[in-house]
This record gives sequence, structure tokens and C-alpha cells, in this order.
Amino acid sequence: MSVALAFHVLAVVIWVGGMFFAYMALRPAAAAVLEPSQRLTLWSNVFARFFPWVWASIIAILASGYWMLFVYFGGMANVPVFVHIMNGLGLVMMLIFFYVYFSPYQHLREYVLGMRWQEAGKALARIRTLIAVNLSIGLLTVTIAAAGKYFL
Ligand code: HEM
Repeated sequence: MSVALAFHVLAVVIWVGGMFFAYMALRPAAAAVLEPSQRLTLWSNVFARFFPWVWASIIAILASGYWMLFVYFGGMANVPVFVHIMNGLGLVMMLIFFYVYFSPYQHLREYVLGMRWQEAGKALARIRTLIAVNLSIGLLTVTIAAAGKYFL
């Protein structure tokens, strides 16, 4: 249980912390100092390095989460309400990430390579909105997961 929980929380820190840094620090800084072509190229490169970590985090969260749920707790029926909420919100976050990865991110890469900055800007705007949603759900999920056992 301790090993699974450690992997679970480390993966969550990498994913949610990475989104927080990208959204709250890198996004406004890049917008303030870079031309659109440089900014869009930067984001395409940033995502190329960050998204493999998100895939690894998702695999670690699912493997450790369901191991704890089924092996340690003995099934869905035995876990407290906050774990059900975490499970549901976690799956929503993952679906949003899959959409970002397979749709607007692929377009962003393609448009940046083709130097089609206007279209690339639109793809980045979609990614930005979805990351804002996922960051909000992620922070809420961490709060519920960590504090939930005291009030749910
Ligand atoms: C998607 C499937 C997920 C499953 C099945 C799952 C399952 C679990 C389980 C069984 C625990 C142990 C609860 C306990 O010790 O009482 C746990 C802990 C935790 N989970 Fe998840 N989880 C999932 C996703 C997530 C996500 C997406 C986040 C955050 C964004 C998250 C954050 C946490 C945190 C912070 C803890 C530690 C709580 C603590 O002991 O203080 N989990 N999870």
C-alpha cells in the first residue's frame, strides 16, 4: 500500500504541478516576451517534452489507484465516498487529456511545422482552455483526495 500510494501521489504531483507551472507561469511569460511564431514553436516543444510525462503519470495513477482500490480495500463497495469522487474526476481528466493529445496538439505540431501561425494559434487556444479545465479539476481532486477522509 505504501509503495502504491507513493507512486500515486508522485504521478499526481508531476501531472498537476506541471499544468500549474505551464498555465500560471510559462503561459503569461511567453505571451509577454515572444513573437507568435517563437511562442507557438516553444509550446509545441514544451508539450513534446511534458506529454510523455503525463502519459507515464496516467499509467502510474491508474495502476496504483486500482491496485489500492481492489487489492488493499477489496473492491469498489469498500471504499469511502471521496475515493469514488477521485476515481470519477480522475477519469474525466484523463479523457480531456486524451482529446488534447490526439486532436488540438497534433494540429498544433502540424501547423507549427508548416509555419501556419494563425491556425497554430487557434489550436494552442483550444489546448489552453482545456488545460485550464483540467488544472481546475486536478486541484479539486487533490483537495478531495487529501482532505476527503476528514469530511466525506
Ligand atoms: C482515476 C483513478 C484513481 C483511482 C482508482 C484512485 C484511487 C485512490 C486510492 C484507493 C487512494 C488511497 C485512499 C486512502 O488511502 O484512503 C488514493 C489516494 C490519493 N489519490 Fe487517487 N485515485 C485515482 C485518481 C487520482 C487523481 C486523478 C488524483 C489527483 C489529481 C488523485 C489523488 C490522490 C491523492 C492526493 C491521494 C492521497 C490521499 C491521502 O492519503 O492523503 N487520485 N487514490
